[in-house]
Amino acid sequence: MTTASETKPLAWITGAGGLLGSYLLQTAAEFAPGWRLRGLTRAQFDLLDFAALEREFLKDAPGLVIHCAAVSTVAEAKANPTLAQQVNVELTRMLAGLAATVPFVFFSTDLIFDGRRGNYRETDPANPLHLYGETKAAGEQLVLRNPRHLVLRTSINGGTSRTGNRGFNEQLRQALQKGQGMTLFTDEFRSPIAARETIRVLWELVHKNSGGLFNVAGADRLSRWQIGQLLIQRWPELLAKINDIKPGSAKDFPGPPRALDTSLDLAKLQAVLTTPIPGLAAWLAAHPHEPF
Ligand SMILES: NC(=O)c1ccc[n+]([C@@H]2O[C@H](COP(=O)([O-])OP(=O)(O)OC[C@H]3O[C@@H](n4cnc5c(N)ncnc54)[C@H](OP(=O)(O)O)[C@@H]3O)[C@@H](O)[C@H]2O)c1
Repeated sequence: MTTASETKPLAWITGAGGLLGSYLLQTAAEFAPGWRLRGLTRAQFDLLDFAALEREFLKDAPGLVIHCAAVSTVAEAKANPTLAQQVNVELTRMLAGLAATVPFVFFSTDLIFDGRRGNYRETDPANPLHLYGETKAAGEQLVLRNPRHLVLRTSINGGTSRTGNRGFNEQLRQALQKGQGMTLFTDEFRSPIAARETIRVLWELVHKNSGGLFNVAGADRLSRWQIGQLLIQRWPELLAKINDIKPGSAKDFPGPPRALDTSLDLAKLQAVLTTPIPGLAAWLAAHPHEPF
């Protein structure tokens, strides 16, 4: 006998222990009641074990794959270049191939741009400044060969993660709690978004059978400094430490050059959404009880 839930189509979520993967699982009842989700974590199997991956895929035959697993930071990719290539490019190629006849969702990043101009559209050419951006741009190209497949280019996402340090909000809050303070650049701009909002939009696009490339980010272009000032208002217990957030310039950063303005133009996305994405300040105001 099959239960109602067993008759629902199955969606695979890779990287289910990460920030976006865990939001997919947490919000499934609200945003994806018609789907059964299988969250894949490294504890189940290493996705780079392509034989195990193929075996599981053929056994489950998912009707949708949402691919969140990645080497997901500039620093991690720089430290592990071979792994970054394998996970961000070769694994993406493998999964998109297995999922050739079903919808497939791949997350990319605003960091495929060099940040010289800002307000980037989907049609603007990529010019990454580092290996992370290069591997994500290569992943995009692989996925976009299949018109049924979807690439969501997102910016920095906030929320609560299993490891407690994946959301941009978590990093600032932890630093303030530890009394460490943080320098935030007044001249580096992104389009920050809540992970929960990214996931809401993902499901709307999936349910519309959308394919192709969409920017999915907050509607406001904010400097890192502005983001910090906004977040601390959410944490009354830390407001006394507001001066521990120091303004700085990305031009003084001692490491490799940084992309200064990778804000994203949302016109293509907002035109198809039933509920447009707000800016981060408006989203936070509309979700006063959401952990952030
Ligand atoms: N979060 C953001 O602000 C942001 C911004 C732009 C783009 N993106 C993109 O969005 C996607 C999801 O990001 P995220 O923030 O959710 O990343 P995340 O928190 O780092 O999660 C990635 C997950 O992938 C898993 N993973 C990596 N390699 C694996 C392997 N070989 N086998 C099994 N699992 C593996 C990791 O497992 P372990 O923890 O065990 O390593 C981790 O749980 C990524 O493609 C990222 O590039 C994210």
